[in-house]
Amino acid sequence: MKTKVTVVGAGNVGATVAQGIAQKELADVVLVDIVEGVPQGKSLDFMETAPVERFDSILTGTNGYDETADSDVVVITAGLPRKPGMSRDDLLWKNEEIVGGVTREIVKRSPNTILIIVSNPLDAMCEVARRVSGFPRERVLGMAGVLDSARMRAFISMELNVSVDNTHAFVLGGHGDTMVPLPRYSTVAGIPITELISKERIDAIVDRTRNGGAEIVNLLKTSAWYAPGASTVEMVEAILKDKRKILPCAAYLQGEYGFNNLYVGVPVKLGRNGAEQIVEIKLTDEEAAALRKSGDAVQELFDKLKTAS
Ligand code: NAI
Ligand code: 2OP
Repeated sequence: MKTKVTVVGAGNVGATVAQGIAQKELADVVLVDIVEGVPQGKSLDFMETAPVERFDSILTGTNGYDETADSDVVVITAGLPRKPGMSRDDLLWKNEEIVGGVTREIVKRSPNTILIIVSNPLDAMCEVARRVSGFPRERVLGMAGVLDSARMRAFISMELNVSVDNTHAFVLGGHGDTMVPLPRYSTVAGIPITELISKERIDAIVDRTRNGGAEIVNLLKTSAWYAPGASTVEMVEAILKDKRKILPCAAYLQGEYGFNNLYVGVPVKLGRNGAEQIVEIKLTDEEAAALRKSGDAVQELFDKLKTAS
């Protein structure tokens, strides 16, 4: 049987994820959306790029769920994106309803799948999917840290005029204004950026990373999709290829980093079983306090969720 990935939501992010998975020939892709014609049209358009791009993955667009049966991985991007002046948290109620409904349909047909949630507010939507699916925490993950770290890496490479290949960055915490970029663990060719960039410039990079989503919203009047799409594909690839790659992901913590029953962005080893290990790194008192504050912000959203736990 061929590997299958379902992407729910054929909007900006979902379509980019579907395209990335197909172009890398990671799996066949089923693209689902409620708008008639859109997933079918986008899938057909991508399929018609196959002769030029030279991939043999099959894309199927649908407004239903039967085609999603037995998916290896399901990416949920369905929901409303952020508009100017809106915080990610404003999306909570509407997207809770959407993500809950989508998850219900998915688990009926793919009870063993791994869920990667993208819809915002990210950490709360992961919890909705976890509660509705009843899946173990290994199989319900959120994409945010890869994106936030990619943004930080891009800014570091611009600052030092070095290849992005040389950069590494870690951004932990919830996917919101309280996220925690960690300069001490961010490096260029293995050298911590604290040795290479002034404190003032690091503070500017940290600030720009925290506001990376809003920066794009202000320009485009809707939220980003190229970097979010690519970041999601990196997670899908790590899982399907069983790479055991350590990536920052939203994971359900049960004691790690001092959090209990909360989704927080932390380093996770991703492999064929999903989140195979939560990696705990040492934090200074200041970093730990920032992470705690970020976790508190996520907890506030959890407290507002209507989905039964
Ligand atoms: P979009 O508006 O382009 O696409 C969303 C799609 O979801 C639309 O095509 C819509 O028809 C579909 N949809 C709505 N309800 C649905 C349902 N019940 N079933 C199936 N499909 C449904 O939005 P975009 O830009 O693709 O963003 C999607 C979500 O991802 C938003 O919530 C956004 O905030 C979030 N996001 C999260 C990021 C992260 O780092 N975690 C980064 C970027 C976006
Ligand atoms: C982003 O960070 C809006 O969460 C989305 O681009």
